[in-house]
Amino acid sequence: MLEERPGLGHGPTPGTLPAAIAELRKRRRAVILAHYYQEPEIQDIADFTGDSLELSRRAAETDADVIVFCGVHFMAETAKILNPSRLVLLPDLEAGCSLAESCPPEAFANFRAQYPDHLVVSYINTSAAIKAQSDLICTSSNAVDLVRQLPEDQPILFAPDRNLGRWVQQKSGRPMVLWPGGCIVHETFSEAAVLTLKQAHPEAAVIAHPECQENLLDLADFVGSTSRLLSHIRSADAPAFIVLTEPGILHQMRRSMPNTTFLEVPGLDGCSCNACPHMRRNNLAKLWRCMETLEPRIELPEDLRQRALVPIRRMLDMTRRADCRLNP
Ligand code: 13P
Ligand code: SF4
Repeated sequence: MLEERPGLGHGPTPGTLPAAIAELRKRRRAVILAHYYQEPEIQDIADFTGDSLELSRRAAETDADVIVFCGVHFMAETAKILNPSRLVLLPDLEAGCSLAESCPPEAFANFRAQYPDHLVVSYINTSAAIKAQSDLICTSSNAVDLVRQLPEDQPILFAPDRNLGRWVQQKSGRPMVLWPGGCIVHETFSEAAVLTLKQAHPEAAVIAHPECQENLLDLADFVGSTSRLLSHIRSADAPAFIVLTEPGILHQMRRSMPNTTFLEVPGLDGCSCNACPHMRRNNLAKLWRCMETLEPRIELPEDLRQRALVPIRRMLDMTRRADCRLNP
């Protein structure tokens, strides 16, 4: 069952990895959380697969001893901020996020200082150091609802995604100062490729994540977070969808609607850079390895954790209130 593999030492053979991971999950009293952009075999073995908001709620509520986060660093860090007594593991510590990296803490502090009366709303795709400088965290699922809840005369600064920020401004009608960050995956979809796909599949609806650029969102029939895209395809009456987000989500889409066609969109110049290079650093072998060795762990200084927790808690409380309003 054990074999030597480069860089990983001895580990189960590929065919026995799922069983070995399942055994470790029991032995470690672990819960495996996976984002929709993970490889299909990771989504299939996870206890829960979801979007950033759902995953942070699960991480906050779990009583498992170990949270194995199959996603990127800011997601695992958020899990640790919310549930510090658990051991939080990330299969590959190098799994970062271009959007989070586009907002360095010191530069952001200088930017913020120019708008002292503004309330800082930050997307969850940020480091703990940016969360600690924020008043409120949001995800792409709840950003519009949360901004609408803010007092009308309250000026707002939004970071770090300029595309999500612009979209939230349009949907909420609230002007906001935007930090000029972006995601390397969602900013490289090709408009020409979407137009070609639309021509070849006139029956297909276009659905997009709000991190895409404005020219692509203008072509979309529906815009929403990963979980909202998933619920939309179940209720929309279309035989095919052109999907403008990371193609990992097509696994859940095809599972939920097996008779529907889902078409991914290439990046500019036809590259396959529509796959997030950070999300794709995780794989089953690294997942097994981290559960076996209980490394790499997410750790952060307690004072930073406490400061970052305040705006995340505010998000969860305000989201609960918005959910109550929507489902009285
Ligand atoms: P969701 O919150 O929609 O899952 O998006 C996370 C993300 O990283 C998008 O690129
Ligand atoms: Fe970050 Fe973009 Fe990857 Fe999402 S798709 S994790 S925003 S780099």
